[in-house]
Amino acid sequence: MTATTIPTYALHDGSTLPAVGFGTYPLKGDEGTTAIVSALEAGYRLLDTAVNYENETEVGEALRRSGLPREEVQVTSKLPGRHHAYDDAVASVRGSLERLGLDYLDLHLIHWPNPSVGKYVEAWRALVDLQQEGLVRSIGVSNFTEDHLGRIIEATGVTPVVNQIELHPRFPQEEMRGVHERLGIRTEAWSPMGKRHAPLDEGAVTSPAERLDVTPGQVILRWHVQLGSLPIPKSSSPQRQQQNLDVFDFELTDAEMDAISGLADPDGRLFGGDPDSHEEM
Ligand SMILES: NC(=O)c1ccc[n+]([C@@H]2O[C@H](COP(=O)([O-])OP(=O)(O)OC[C@H]3O[C@@H](n4cnc5c(N)ncnc54)[C@H](OP(=O)(O)O)[C@@H]3O)[C@@H](O)[C@H]2O)c1
Repeated sequence: MTATTIPTYALHDGSTLPAVGFGTYPLKGDEGTTAIVSALEAGYRLLDTAVNYENETEVGEALRRSGLPREEVQVTSKLPGRHHAYDDAVASVRGSLERLGLDYLDLHLIHWPNPSVGKYVEAWRALVDLQQEGLVRSIGVSNFTEDHLGRIIEATGVTPVVNQIELHPRFPQEEMRGVHERLGIRTEAWSPMGKRHAPLDEGAVTSPAERLDVTPGQVILRWHVQLGSLPIPKSSSPQRQQQNLDVFDFELTDAEMDAISGLADPDGRLFGGDPDSHEEM
């Protein structure tokens, strides 16, 4: 099987990211490592992990087992809420590197802003310094609102390269996509299918799937690509991993794009999606 070549996005700090990445939660243990190796064999070149997924060791092991040169694969990890204090953040990143068995991370994100703790600006200062030191090539955030983004940018003058947010057809995040566009931030999409809300049986998804002879999952990921959103689908199945990358040689019409965005639902947000009320330590 030949690996798919994935287009890339240029980030405002001069680096690039593949247009589709691989989500690794909740892949763990030997089975998890095998699934991640299979994703690398399928052609994924961006792996998304986090301290809180407790699988950084498996991600590092999969990278080594794949035999791919380090510089060909981009690894993202995330700083948990309990490590927002400056020194804790520095120690946390060193811990991630140790578990991954790497000497630099390609991208590190603040996992959640945790506004009630009130230390996300401090955490951002630590990431800015770690980037200067070369331990982290690019720095970004996850689950930040416009207000959270404004605060860290104002405090440091440094804009995150990405904000990884919940985004899928039931929750298309039009407003945040506009904020990102204005600030030059790449939108990364977590739960890109929508998990239990995945509209795999909806006509807006199945009709283009039939017309284009692709699967409903591929239609949803193509919708992300055409929105300019970088999805990080997780799959344990080698067949679906391959399908989820194979989304660059067909196109949805404007009407099909609008119909999929029209699946937006006020109750479509997954549990824990609200950055002002949800906090993860
Ligand atoms: N920053 C954050 O706060 C945050 C929060 C949640 C998730 N994430 C990241 O985002 C990644 C992806 O999110 P997620 O795992 O919640 O959701 P997802 O990728 O949207 O959905 C994963 C589910 O969809 C199934 N699936 C995958 N491809 C499919 C296809 N082509 N057709 C039908 N079903 C398919 C998978 O089953 P199979 O495995 O059986 O294929 C799995 O059950 C995570 O792994 C994690 O890295 C980040």
